[in-house]
Amino acid sequence: MKKVSLLFVCLGNICRSPAAEDITKKIAEDKGILTLLDIDSAGIGDWHIGQLPDARMRKHGYIHGYKFNSKARQICMNDFNRFDYIIAMDKDNYSYLSNIAPNKECKKKILRISDYLKLYPNYDKIPDPYYGDDDDFENVIILLEDACKNLPLSLFNK
Ligand code: 4NP
Repeated sequence: MKKVSLLFVCLGNICRSPAAEDITKKIAEDKGILTLLDIDSAGIGDWHIGQLPDARMRKHGYIHGYKFNSKARQICMNDFNRFDYIIAMDKDNYSYLSNIAPNKECKKKILRISDYLKLYPNYDKIPDPYYGDDDDFENVIILLEDACKNLPLSLFNK
């Protein structure tokens, strides 16, 4: 059976999207469906290719029981064919992805993570914590734990 594939995308792929990747993997594991899914993350920029997630992101992940350890990579055009869903962390990510999507079908694959926030509907993005402090990194985890568990089941059971 073909796996359902999700790609989380942020600017640098060292803070928000690797956290979303791992948090969603944990949710899928708890549901017993991890083997049915292909979950990955990528960045729009190329600055951090090959790097582990930001040490501050890893620290806050660790506090919540996660081990964020995927290596950063940059999104490539093949990702639009390879993945069923491409999930943007903020409006800038969404606009960029929409602009480079090769066709209408691929454009339809792009989702906004903020559309799945239930406890924090006042947020329209996962705020970029890179130039922020501990609270901003903590906030990323809290928001992603809300949004990722509310990703529609159809995404998991295509
Ligand atoms: P991310 O955060 O998009 O959540 O990974 C950032 C990481 C790096 C940079 C910006 C945002 N940067 O400018 O290098």
